[in-house]
Amino acid sequence: MTVHLLDHPLVHHKLSLIRDRKTPGSLFRALTEEVGLLLAVEATRDLPTDSVVVETPLERTGTRRLKPLDPVLVPVLRAGLGLLPSFLKLLPTAKVGHLGLYRDHDSLVPVPYYRNFPPLLEARPVFVLDPMLATGGSASEAVRQLKSAGAITLTLVSVLAAPEGIERLQKDHPDLTIVVGAIDRQLNEKGYILPGLGDAGDRLFGTA
Ligand code: PRP
Ligand code: URA
Repeated sequence: MTVHLLDHPLVHHKLSLIRDRKTPGSLFRALTEEVGLLLAVEATRDLPTDSVVVETPLERTGTRRLKPLDPVLVPVLRAGLGLLPSFLKLLPTAKVGHLGLYRDHDSLVPVPYYRNFPPLLEARPVFVLDPMLATGGSASEAVRQLKSAGAITLTLVSVLAAPEGIERLQKDHPDLTIVVGAIDRQLNEKGYILPGLGDAGDRLFGTA
């Protein structure tokens, strides 16, 4: 498994604000989108391109364009929705799949409740969007469902990860690529990331 950790001053700065419990929901959402843009730049680094020739106002030149078969973005509901606008900004023609999962409060096992994937998953790069990689149960289940629907080239994009979650994915999906803004210290006894940022879904959508 490949893990890309975004060690960038803008990510450090924005994460310091995202983590702050005093940051209001509107700013939390905006900052998640901004970090999402930086993650998206890194996550799309290996997208395949074709050679093309264009006429600039001055001359013909060889250049490159993304291959025509659009990538797929799959936000894991709910919190993954916070990263979707950034990815759609850079990949406006991407197809969007949705996957609804919530963690059972006691067992921490992900419970699936909704799924709608676009066609041709096997031929497209697929980006799974979920700001939080904690125990890794939700991400592992998302990747499992996408693989069983045909996806081959999969990248998980998260704002924060716990070492436990990375270890779990390394075991379950060694072929996965992960792009992450920070790797935190550990999980607490309730499966929350420490130091973390709290409950991403609640902070994004004001449901705390
Ligand atoms: C959060 C988060 C991940 C999951 C991570 O979702 O968005 O999907 O927990 O935890 P894990 O790695 O231990 O599985 P949650 O289940 O709270 O649902 P929500 O986004 O609807 O609030
Ligand atoms: N989900 C969250 O939203 N936050 C955590 O710290 C762990 C799981």
